[in-house]
Amino acid sequence: MIINDAIESGKKILSKNLIKSSQLDCEILLAEVLKKKRKYLILNSNEQIKDINLKKFKNLINQRSSGKPIAYLIKKKNFWNSEFVIDEGVLIPRPDTETLIEATLEIFKNKDYANVLDVGVGSGCIILSILKEKPGFYGKGIDINSKSINLSKLNAKKLGVGNRVKFIKTNVDNFSLGKYDLIISNPPYIKTNELKYLEKDVNCFEPKEALDGGLDGILKTQNIIKKASNLLRRNGKLILEIAYNQRNKITRLLQNKGFVINRVIKDYAKNDRCIISTKTN
Ligand SMILES: C[S@@+](CC[C@H](N)C(=O)[O-])C[C@H]1O[C@@H](n2cnc3c(N)ncnc32)[C@H](O)[C@@H]1O
Repeated sequence: MIINDAIESGKKILSKNLIKSSQLDCEILLAEVLKKKRKYLILNSNEQIKDINLKKFKNLINQRSSGKPIAYLIKKKNFWNSEFVIDEGVLIPRPDTETLIEATLEIFKNKDYANVLDVGVGSGCIILSILKEKPGFYGKGIDINSKSINLSKLNAKKLGVGNRVKFIKTNVDNFSLGKYDLIISNPPYIKTNELKYLEKDVNCFEPKEALDGGLDGILKTQNIIKKASNLLRRNGKLILEIAYNQRNKITRLLQNKGFVINRVIKDYAKNDRCIISTKTN
């Protein structure tokens, strides 16, 4: 079968299974199998595909049909300026989370040195993107999920910042090591009873412990704020990702713990996404 026909037949299968981005997904998966860029597929659409590669492609199309996210199939995802290794059991980095990186780089633009803690490190995408941009920064990433810790270590090595970061498997509630200039986190913040409304790709394939923020969605964020008030140095920053409707609740929690709100930043879809605060006492 030639490239063009394989894409057309893959597209039909994905569309039948209600996968919206069927053309793009087929191109990404076939490019991955052939170890080429997507552009190559377009320029060589009449090239014959070897049977072994066609088999691999069909297998990926079947998995994608069941809703498995592309990032878990190709085991990588671009975030900020880097490509991260991704695997099942660990949350796939989201473009909206780049809002936190942008905010951090702006706030610390005149600082050459800071100790950073990333709570709920996942793939390592937040802390590693910051460390890559700021060669004088160092820090720690914590997560309850051992797969996250292993993947973060791998990504740190891949991005060449492994000597400036440590990863520790722990619950944030039990963590009390060090003092930090910046604590940053994208915590689980979906209400437990709303998890079932998430898209199938997310609900059936991404880890619940990365999404579930308890009955009111703010349980984990609340715990992080409590911890951060002890772990931050005076005038240290706490940068949190929040859900579009959590601005008021989280603002009150922060103020009750002695934080001053600096800014709330919107994401690419113009929803409140990131809240920046300073520990003042
Ligand atoms: C929304 S994900 C964020 C992952 C990554 N930072 C990102 O932005 O892609 C939340 C992460 O917090 C971790 N987590 C959940 N509860 C935790 C807890 N009590 N202590 C530490 N980490 C926790 C999850 O395992 C998950 O990796």
